[in-house]
Amino acid sequence: MAQQKAISGFSKMSASEKVRWLKEVHDLSPGDVKNLEQHLHPDEKTQQTYTEFSENTISNFFIPFGLAPNFLVNGKWYVLPMAIEESSVVAAASHAAKFWSAHGGFHAEVEDTVKVGQVHFFWTGDPRAIQDIFKRSLTTLQNSVSSETESMRKRGGGLINLQLINQTENLDHYYQLHTEFRTADAMGANFINTVLEKLAKEWKRLAQEQVGQNNLEGELEISMAILSNYTPDCIVKVWLETETSHLGGFDASYSGEAFAQRFVRAVEVARQDTHRAVTHNKGIFNGLDSVIIATGNDFRAVEACGHAYAARDGVYRSLSYAKVRNGKFRFELKIPLAIGTVGGLTSGHPMARTSLKLLGDPSAEELMMIVAAAGLANNFSAVRSMITGGIQEGHMKMHLANILRQLDATEKQKSAALTFFKKRTVSYSAVKTFISEQP
Ligand code: MEV
Repeated sequence: MAQQKAISGFSKMSASEKVRWLKEVHDLSPGDVKNLEQHLHPDEKTQQTYTEFSENTISNFFIPFGLAPNFLVNGKWYVLPMAIEESSVVAAASHAAKFWSAHGGFHAEVEDTVKVGQVHFFWTGDPRAIQDIFKRSLTTLQNSVSSETESMRKRGGGLINLQLINQTENLDHYYQLHTEFRTADAMGANFINTVLEKLAKEWKRLAQEQVGQNNLEGELEISMAILSNYTPDCIVKVWLETETSHLGGFDASYSGEAFAQRFVRAVEVARQDTHRAVTHNKGIFNGLDSVIIATGNDFRAVEACGHAYAARDGVYRSLSYAKVRNGKFRFELKIPLAIGTVGGLTSGHPMARTSLKLLGDPSAEELMMIVAAAGLANNFSAVRSMITGGIQEGHMKMHLANILRQLDATEKQKSAALTFFKKRTVSYSAVKTFISEQP
């Protein structure tokens, strides 16, 4: 039977009722049902934790949790937890980390950690009148959220800026209360949104009161109160630096100097060409997202912000930058990362807790530097591969290993296949034929 109409009360159904409905109405096969069941956690309490993260949960969707060792960041060693399904990413990060650990490691600094929130509203009256109302209301507005910001202020954060912005040139009657926050070790989304919603209510009340008291013309309508995921002042910078002569070992065809020049030009291409820049930045996000997901942070927020930042001058460009000067190669990444190490999933997800422990329970700023190092490591490895043997060489090795695993190849068959496919194209059927011909 195929579904004929919308279903009501779906969210109230238990997980097994939902699966039964899938079986009946969507012809889910017994194999698929078994698959759903097999991916549930055997421990009921742990499963309950996962179930409650989201809505209408009927199973779990696994992705591998791997480790990238040998990350030396500001002189401190880390093993990075990486949650990612794409092969080669963890290997690429580890490879770059090991190489750079012998050349000073990753240098990193957090430039600032300012987060942004906005109350969007429409005002039909005179722009000068709303400015005056705002000026008269500023202290009351700030005080109105002091109980919400108190504990954050004790941790060194809180509401640090509140301004009125006139946007009527872009949209009729449109204004914003632009707010800035520091949120200590929390990503701070819930905190910011709570403060903004309170500010919005108070702003409406104060404006109405003053319109009445002063016989002003105009109506104020609140549209939305919400944080902005664009945080260009929550910025981390990470860089690698060494003598160009140290870069000679990657490909016999290139001296260290020649490698460095090729590298710089490849990154320059990604600064100038948007098609290349998107792929280049995707390679950076391979590393960033893996650690962000493993530590229970919001990778969609970081991605949206990172891509907007990459286009901040009106053209989408590479987020990283490379140069050679006075015999030294420098490779740098500057990126906004609004992430936290307390609250939300960082403490609620059992694997995120383990990840943070692995990293030595870092502060949010330390995690920003670690995450940025992962991004730069993956970016270095990708560009290095492309300007030397090509990206497929490494990918194909992994691909071959995956196929051999699927085919249950013996150790002897595996080693024969590795030699045979060194200079041949890897495909599932070619490997299968090769294995079937082996003793
Ligand atoms: C693949 O996941 C990422 C790369 O395409 C990145 C790049 O091209 O720089 C290899």
